Amino acid sequence: MDFNPLSPEVTADPYPYYTELRNKAPVIWLEPFQCWALSRYADVDLALRSPQIFSSSVFTAEALGDLNPVPEVPWILDMNPPDHTRLRKLANKGFTPRLIRTLEPRVQAIIQELIEPIRGQSESDLVSTFSGPLPTIVIAEMLGVEPERRDDFKVWSDDIVRATSRPTDEAERIKIRESLAGLRVYFEQMIEHRRTSPGDDVISALVQAEEERDMLSATEILALAVLLLVAGNETTTNLLGNAVLTLLNHPEELAKVRADRSLVPALVEEVLRYNSPVQVIFRRTAQDVELEGGKIPAGQNVFLLLGSANRDERQFPEPDRFDVARNPQDHVAFGYGIHYCLGAPLARLEGQNALAALLFDCPPFSCATERVEQIASIIVRGPQTLPLRFDTAGA
Ligand code: HEM
Repeated sequence: MDFNPLSPEVTADPYPYYTELRNKAPVIWLEPFQCWALSRYADVDLALRSPQIFSSSVFTAEALGDLNPVPEVPWILDMNPPDHTRLRKLANKGFTPRLIRTLEPRVQAIIQELIEPIRGQSESDLVSTFSGPLPTIVIAEMLGVEPERRDDFKVWSDDIVRATSRPTDEAERIKIRESLAGLRVYFEQMIEHRRTSPGDDVISALVQAEEERDMLSATEILALAVLLLVAGNETTTNLLGNAVLTLLNHPEELAKVRADRSLVPALVEEVLRYNSPVQVIFRRTAQDVELEGGKIPAGQNVFLLLGSANRDERQFPEPDRFDVARNPQDHVAFGYGIHYCLGAPLARLEGQNALAALLFDCPPFSCATERVEQIASIIVRGPQTLPLRFDTAGA
């Protein structure tokens, strides 16, 4: 069978294609991508648990190409043990559960700031007014970006995401390169400053992080800070967009959450499973490997189809049923194992608080368009825009 993750039909709704893949070709060679794809949960799970066989490679560096603002060091996502183990131990110190918990009141305040203008309007695009800005503002605050530099920061963070989509227009590339040079200078100065006057932000935590007398270099901190923009913004935006869209398509499940606020954390887990914001991650085989669904030789690129694994009927009963009370603990939307998402606690904190605010502090809403276009991407899944109509009269 043929499978093109970039075809408009697959982008619109990949799930029927995934079902066919899992049943007919669970380990498939994709000629146009020169790459294998794994679609079953058991195979994806094995790959995530076996970094010595399914190694990470230069995928992030390649995606950024010559727009990479920190080419001197590898990205944590691309690293393998023992280098990854060392860097991850130190990076974890910037993302301790304690630090994330202390953010909750600020995250709630930012959510209220963003929701205030929406509440009064009869129609509003969720992505440009709420789910897009929220993670960028939260990360800016976490990193300790001064409020007066927030607009620059927004431009930088949009530009780094644009850089990963390999723009071909030379004028645009020059613009992005200049912008990211500015981002680099800004972070370098910030890191230098935090060495002498630390605050309670992530950069200060990374500057001070120490493990067996080992510390992070300035360039390593710089690369981590930039990666947080790449890895944390569009993903969280899509979690929120996917949650709202999926709820609107399942009014009976929406009603269940509206009737019981304590379901919000389970709702977030079910959205992550049912409509995963990251659909695909990449690996390269370090040796020949035999999987449940077939064999792959050494030295090959492999797509792990997380969005398909999360719908595998061999793992989840009635996987195509969206059930806000399911609370799946074994989905792989954040990956698993050594590269498990560093920002997962933050994404959950933002997701839970943002959805609670939309469902309980806003008038009831419906979708203001017949057709919602999905982002054209192999990697991420989420609506490009999501115009909502608020029933202000019923509020
Ligand atoms: C719903 C939102 C998010 C989703 C679905 C998501 C998904 C993922 C996935 C699947 C991986 C594993 C990649 C791999 O194994 O190759 C990952 C890694 C990572 N994520 Fe997230 N992510 C989200 C939000 C965030 C946020 C908010 C941040 C930071 C602020 C973040 C930072 C990272 C970092 C730094 C890594 C690399 C970890 C490593 O290589 O050790 N992510 N994420």
